[in-house]
Amino acid sequence: MTIGKIIDGKAFATGLRDRVGDGVADFVAAAGRKPGLAVVLVGEDPASAVYVRNKGRMTVAAGMESFEFKRPASIEEDDLLDLIEELNHDDRVDGILVQLPLPAHIDETAVIAAIDPAKDVDGFHVVNSGRLATGQDALVPCTPLGCIMLLKDELGDLSGMEAVVVGRSNIVGKPMAQLLLAENCTVTIAHSRTRDLASVVHRADIVVAAVGRPEMVKGEWIRPGATVIDVGINRVADDDDDGRTRLVGDVATAEALAHARAITPVPGGVGPMTIAVLLRNTLVAAHARAGLAAPEGL
Ligand code: GUN
Repeated sequence: MTIGKIIDGKAFATGLRDRVGDGVADFVAAAGRKPGLAVVLVGEDPASAVYVRNKGRMTVAAGMESFEFKRPASIEEDDLLDLIEELNHDDRVDGILVQLPLPAHIDETAVIAAIDPAKDVDGFHVVNSGRLATGQDALVPCTPLGCIMLLKDELGDLSGMEAVVVGRSNIVGKPMAQLLLAENCTVTIAHSRTRDLASVVHRADIVVAAVGRPEMVKGEWIRPGATVIDVGINRVADDDDDGRTRLVGDVATAEALAHARAITPVPGGVGPMTIAVLLRNTLVAAHARAGLAAPEGL
């Protein structure tokens, strides 16, 4: 029995961040300023605070300007919308990211709609999702774009392949399906109401799991030779009952390795790609706003 390859997302992300760093130096030479990314964090969620801190650190490491705005969970929606409006008009800011989730009293859709689509480095604005769906240039959500980069690196041309995306979120599942379609895959989106998920997944040359349920996709569902991208990051209790926790994906990785050609691990697969692609999107947005041609090789 052959054992599949582990796709090293961490190494790929490091390489991408290095290429972004080179692109930033070229941008500074051409535009006379640094690209800038503004991150807005509302509330005290510890996981979000860690993400935001890492984003800030890596933004600066890539040679960009990082602006952080922390607001209490009690902020009024109008005050948050005012902040976004200010950032929309701030010329130093090329990218705006509002960390999700937001507190329940704030309408996430309204907040995303308030972001200038040209600065929407998360690719969540309907203008960007519409542009992606209609094959126009768009800012594309970071996690699915990172998944496509890993897939193309592993498989080359994806044309004609059967791709099954498990999960239909606006952040991952739907844009992932659009990106695979743009690569000429035959795409199925499966979800919690899908009948006989095992046999749907078994059709796939490419499986992307993005459901947020620990190890839901079983090894025997994977068609021999398929490539598996695991977007899930789930914290579960450790097996030995000592109160510790560990991270697992949406795929039963060890089992799947007995069938797959290649698989992304958790941690160290898709996760590190998200921030690297965010930096890439910020550099792309900066070029467009400065009237410069899009950077190459990113
Ligand atoms: N929360 C979890 N992932 C993301 C992301 O990619 N973007 C934003 N804005 N919030 C998130």
